[in-house]
Amino acid sequence: MKSTAAAPLFQPCSSARAAIQRLCDHLNEAFESTAPAGDSPLRSSDAAFAQRVRSALAEAIADPGLLDESACKGDAHGYRRHLLAADAHGRYAIAALVWMPGQASPVHAHHTWCGYAVVEGKLTESLYRWDEAGACATACRTQPRAAGAVSVTRAGHAAIHRLANESGRRAVSLHVYGVAGAQIATHVNDLVRVAESGVESSIGAISSGLNRDGQTVAPDVVAQTPVREAALT
Ligand SMILES: [Fe+2]
Repeated sequence: MKSTAAAPLFQPCSSARAAIQRLCDHLNEAFESTAPAGDSPLRSSDAAFAQRVRSALAEAIADPGLLDESACKGDAHGYRRHLLAADAHGRYAIAALVWMPGQASPVHAHHTWCGYAVVEGKLTESLYRWDEAGACATACRTQPRAAGAVSVTRAGHAAIHRLANESGRRAVSLHVYGVAGAQIATHVNDLVRVAESGVESSIGAISSGLNRDGQTVAPDVVAQTPVREAALT
């Protein structure tokens, strides 16, 4: 498939625009230089492709001009997503997520491959194991993700996580999802039931504020929960 420049979805400054375009170029190369896995287009088990995406994210966040202030604005009601670019062929979408202190995602698996890198501040990633018999997720471990951390995740219940900003200052992360730009809020997250009663009750408390992919539909409801989980990662 011939490379096509992804259309910018907002108006970044020139240095940010150039950095985002370089990231798009690298992602295009990743698609065109690696053979699809058997489950294409999910590419859940395509190690060469995942390594290409990981390298593209690492190089992108090393550029101090990647995100201008317009892409780093937060929201007091829940973490905010800024859609930066979308592939003209619908193969991927790129977003910056801004996490104010105390904000977190729901516990979720993914309908597609995705990757993220921490650009600013520090996130905490909680990892979960899927219990097929119980149809629920159990917490395994928690890992700090400081600026510079890069992760690429496969689709499916083999990779379930939750991201949170447990620090006292803003955090910003860069995400790429294997969906078209128009699907970023509806076809990425796969919300799962959590086994632990405490966490499960927290998820349940916000369920009325989220659609099936964790997209916020009633921010004021989400804001009332003890842990402000919203949107998607
Ligand atoms: Fe995620």
